[in-house]
Amino acid sequence: MSSASAPTIRPALPLDPAIDVPIALDDPRLATPALLVDLDILDSNVRRMAALSRRAGVALRPHAKSHKSLAIADQQIEAGAVGLCVATVGEAETFFAGGITDLTLAYPIFGESKLRRLRDMVAAGVLTMVTDSYEIAEGYSRLAVDAGHDIPVLLEIDTGMHRVGIPPEHAGTLGSSIAALPGLQVVGLLTHAGHAHDVHTQPEIAAVARNEARLLADARYHAEQAGLEITVVSAGSTLTAPYLTAADGITEIRPGTYILNDLRTVTCYACTPDQLAASMLTTVVSVGPGRAVFDAGNKTLTPTRIEQHGFGYPREIPDARVSRLSEEHGVLQLPDDEHLCVGDRVRMLPIHICVWMDLQHEVYGVAGSQIVSRISVDAMRRSI
Ligand SMILES: Cc1ncc(COP(=O)(O)O)c(C=O)c1O
Repeated sequence: MSSASAPTIRPALPLDPAIDVPIALDDPRLATPALLVDLDILDSNVRRMAALSRRAGVALRPHAKSHKSLAIADQQIEAGAVGLCVATVGEAETFFAGGITDLTLAYPIFGESKLRRLRDMVAAGVLTMVTDSYEIAEGYSRLAVDAGHDIPVLLEIDTGMHRVGIPPEHAGTLGSSIAALPGLQVVGLLTHAGHAHDVHTQPEIAAVARNEARLLADARYHAEQAGLEITVVSAGSTLTAPYLTAADGITEIRPGTYILNDLRTVTCYACTPDQLAASMLTTVVSVGPGRAVFDAGNKTLTPTRIEQHGFGYPREIPDARVSRLSEEHGVLQLPDDEHLCVGDRVRMLPIHICVWMDLQHEVYGVAGSQIVSRISVDAMRRSI
């Protein structure tokens, strides 16, 4: 088929763009699966983390990978966030285009094809970059020289997740070799204690946070001994941020998931079930003995499962469990006294909200039993 006659394939959205909101949640014009966001809960999550950071005396730089939405980023900034953290060049481009002027790209960016896309952001002085190696820093240095603007750089420290990051005692040697590269200013340290998800009790999560702060203090000592001036010490996720303050030497926190929360967050004591802002509205398409099958499989809910909650459960039927997912089918195991019919609508709670958001073009703001707004997921699938 020639390109002249190729049909235009538009994204298949739950709600036709021509339909004006508000509409009722049970309006048949709303197709499922549709990702719903309770706007009151979203708002209180925004405010609660902003208040927590103020009390702790640290700046708040939310990780935008959890929502990928300019409208939600604006809410965070209005509530006091200093800027955003992002994970990919594509996310950085989206939020820069949306007017965010302070971005930390917390990922080692390698290769000219990605680096050159950051040139305008570097030239505008909005971007801080992160590295745990000299090789990555060499690319940043070439970028800084090309853009004609220095790049502030944070050294990534491994505080126990063993994903990326150097041991604290290497901060001085790596930091000073990077600081000698043209166009780079080593201004601080960054860590992500993602291993807080691997422990099971609140005291253990607090201990991960204490260790995060302690190892960053060690890294700071080594960096300062080497003559580096450390002004940024960035740590703290949704799980560990509540245990960190300026008194620990932390200058900013970067929680992401808190904005909507998910069942992993509930399980790790970082939110309560009434702080879950997101749910996936689904429709029952088949029923069988003790089960109902709904129209969202692992291509929508993702295959993520956790010990405590499996693939998740419906908001209104907490005793039911999603026992199986195939690509477009979700199988809901029902308690004995519960029956659902074909056509019933069920709201599933997320196990891992960041991946849910990444798969949606737009999500729907809910107040009471109505959809009142469309929220664009501007950086959807911008993983490169
Ligand atoms: C580098 C970095 N910072 C911050 C976060 C935010 O963590 P959370 O979503 O648990 O708050 C993440 C999450 O993956 C991350 O990778």
